[in-house]
Amino acid sequence: MAFQKELINWYQTNKRDLPWRHTTDAYTIWLSEIILQQTRVEQGLPYFNRFLENFPTVSDFASASETQVLKLWQGLGYYSRGRNMHATAQIVVNNFKGIFPTSHDELLKLKGIGEYTAAAISSFSSAEPRAVVDGNVFRVLSRYFGIATPINSPAGKKEFFQLANELLFLPDPATYNQAIMEFGAVQCKPKSPNCGICPINMDCFAFKNQKVKDLPVKLGK
Ligand code: ADE
Repeated sequence: MAFQKELINWYQTNKRDLPWRHTTDAYTIWLSEIILQQTRVEQGLPYFNRFLENFPTVSDFASASETQVLKLWQGLGYYSRGRNMHATAQIVVNNFKGIFPTSHDELLKLKGIGEYTAAAISSFSSAEPRAVVDGNVFRVLSRYFGIATPINSPAGKKEFFQLANELLFLPDPATYNQAIMEFGAVQCKPKSPNCGICPINMDCFAFKNQKVKDLPVKLGK
């Protein structure tokens, strides 16, 4: 539990103030998570704000034209994300009475929502105990626990998901999920992290064994 508590403590003082962290509205969280899927926070933030201004509710999103949606999406790339969002908004209006689902299993059935996004939306909107496992989480776990199984192999996926779910901080899975992602993005960075100021360096396998540069392992790179 020390690991989780340290991450949450670190998060409370070091987190960036991001608008989607002030809401439990599943629609708003969905907007942020889809935009952030292949996009950095600084780049995604103005898009998130524009989408929310133009489409305050999922019904507003659903009744927009595809042209309007893709115009707002302009510059983000991966236009299938925008198209999938439009389709999903319409399904939510037609099949869910306009109420954005919050449960992991229902979310997974929607277009453009995979395991990561379903875990993120369900944990942030309804505190469902689902571990989010994105690139940041793979990196933190791999370094701290010294796991060299390739993160993009089936065995690696299984091992990291299992560990991530065992570590889930049950009193507050949402805050823990945000904390470990933010810790990976801000402190345990891919290149040249400042391990000297890391609050968990004394228990970190990679730091103690000079393996920070070698972990995580990714096949084909
Ligand atoms: N990237 C993906 N989801 C995020 C979140 N909730 N906060 C910050 N960065 C993210």
